[in-house]
Parts: sequence; C-alpha cells; structure tokens
Amino acid sequence: MNVASNANDNPHAVAEAAERRWAIVVGVIIALLIAMMVFTGVQWSAMPPSRVETIDPRTLHISGEFVEGNLGTSVGEGGRVIARLIAQQYSFEPQCIVVPEKTPVTFRATSTDVVHGFIVGTTNANVMLVPGFVATFTTTFQKTGEHLMPCHEYCGTGHEAMWARVQVIPAGEFMSRTGRGERVSCVRR
Ligand code: CUA
Repeated sequence: MNVASNANDNPHAVAEAAERRWAIVVGVIIALLIAMMVFTGVQWSAMPPSRVETIDPRTLHISGEFVEGNLGTSVGEGGRVIARLIAQQYSFEPQCIVVPEKTPVTFRATSTDVVHGFIVGTTNANVMLVPGFVATFTTTFQKTGEHLMPCHEYCGTGHEAMWARVQVIPAGEFMSRTGRGERVSCVRR
C-alpha cells in the first residue's frame, strides 16, 4: 500500500479533523467578539464619556456660541471651517448652509426643544441633535451642488416639513466670501 492511498483510507477521519480545525477557528472568533463586547461594555460604563459638550437649551438664544448672529458657516482659528446651526420645532436655523468643496467642515449643532437630527443628502453627514448637548462632527463634501437636509428624528406634528438646504460651493469662492471673518449662509432674503 502506498502513501497516496493512505490518506484516503479513512475519509471520515480526514473530514473530522478538518471540521474540528474550522470549529476551533470559529470558536476563537466568537470568543474574541464576546471578549470585545464585554470589554467595551465594562469600559464605557466605568469611564465618563469624553468630549461631551453640554449647553443650556433655555439660554442658548441669548448668549454664547449659538446666538443668531453666530449661526452659519465661518472660518475659525487655524482656518477651520465651522458650520453652526440650531434645530427647533420645526425648522433649522439657518435654513440654508453654505460649505466649501473638498475642505473639512466641522458642524456644531444643538436643539432648543426636543430631539431632532439631520442628514445631508446622500453624504455621510448624519447626526442626532439632543437638547442640552452640542453635536459635532467633521466631514468633507467632494462635489459642489445643493443637498436637501431633512430632520430625521420624529419631533412632532411638523416633523415632515422640517428641512434645510446645504450648498457646496468651490473652496475659492467660499474663502473669498468668508475672507473678513464673516458668517455666510444662503438663506434667501
Ligand atoms: Cu425635527 Cu423631526
């Protein structure tokens, strides 16, 4: 009997060994996933969340970062583009937001009343706005154009009419419009 036929002598044993190997691989993956879940669960419950910014929704119209004159898009320290907005039943302020193309834009937003949210067109800009907290994220719009920005958290009877628009314009045009530290928006006057 030669070696080649030896391996085929007991196909059941061969299959069993292969299946056992795969069972071990799958078992290790499942154990790793469970360990990760347990670790992150314990870690998050034991640590205070970092970078949580709170704000008093009762006074944000009156003073601070979210007063009306400070809403819209501006170029901040170090050339960072920041778009500030608030959400309220049933509108966003400003109603139209101008952002530059191919430039990181940091959104800073909050709600004055109930939970709202927004998504910008088909981009990955998508956030929940919870009263009492400042939501921030940074994203880059790759193409010029106009996006619709609907509220995507049910916030009351006017929810489906709560929309804003986002205009993505060439970076050079944006920089010339914000050159003097001004805030821009595209709200029709
Ligand atoms: Cu605001 Cu739905």
